[in-house]
Amino acid sequence: MNLTGKVLAITGSDGVLGQSTASVLSGHGARVALLAHAKTPSGAEPAGALHYGGIDLTMEDAARGVMDRIVKDAGRLDGLINVAGGFRWEKLEGGALDVWDAMYRLNLRTAVVSCQAALPHLLRAGGGRIVNVGAMGAAKAAAGMGAYAASKAGVAKLTEALADELKDRGITVNAILPSTLDTPRNRLDMPTADFSRWVAPAAAAEVIAFLVSDAARAVTGALIPVAGRV
Ligand SMILES: NC(=O)c1ccc[n+]([C@@H]2O[C@H](COP(=O)([O-])OP(=O)(O)OC[C@H]3O[C@@H](n4cnc5c(N)ncnc54)[C@H](OP(=O)(O)O)[C@@H]3O)[C@@H](O)[C@H]2O)c1
Repeated sequence: MNLTGKVLAITGSDGVLGQSTASVLSGHGARVALLAHAKTPSGAEPAGALHYGGIDLTMEDAARGVMDRIVKDAGRLDGLINVAGGFRWEKLEGGALDVWDAMYRLNLRTAVVSCQAALPHLLRAGGGRIVNVGAMGAAKAAAGMGAYAASKAGVAKLTEALADELKDRGITVNAILPSTLDTPRNRLDMPTADFSRWVAPAAAAEVIAFLVSDAARAVTGALIPVAGRV
């Protein structure tokens, strides 16, 4: 996979999948622009990466501002990978309504806001790539997964609608749907699971690398399960 010459923005870049994605895309030659929630760099940023800290992607002004800065600093923007997101397990009975709002803001609003902010730059570049991160768990929600699954189902529908909207304008929009990523947090939460069945973050990042590459130019509107052996 050769991504040389491409400038790719990655949201949630200081999280587990975000860091892996930055490392894999950079390894394939891309210049990565890291949109981090935390203010200070983690120290794991690939060499040559652009780092933008303290960015809350629920805020339209922050998203627009950072996309403008990327184009000013790197000269162009070729793709956006929306990794920012998160999980909360809570049953409806006795649960807080706020969790539904929080999951919506974290998983869907951040993706919508980032897409809207990146779009003028991708169109100006004559085309580009958007990759969202949904979740396999959104297909059939188990108990306690309602708010999370609803927000990730929203990410899937955003992907399909935006792919259709942009299909004649050179921008592909796809989503990967991970099952369970092999993260320290998941190992803590599910200590008896067989971690080898989960998806290594770098393996999910390689699917993203394909989707942002020229080789994937005919793929748009796809919701791609990245399930490992779960
Ligand atoms: N882990 C899994 O098994 C799994 C399975 C299916 C799908 N996914 C999806 O994969 C993605 C990455 O997961 P992960 O495990 O790598 O999660 P993670 O380590 O928690 O990373 C998520 C990142 O998003 C950032 N973020 C949160 N709110 C934000 C905001 N308002 N604006 C900008 N950034 C914000 C977080 O920053 P802070 O920590 O500073 O808030 C964090 O750096 C998520 O979308 C997740 O839903 C994960």
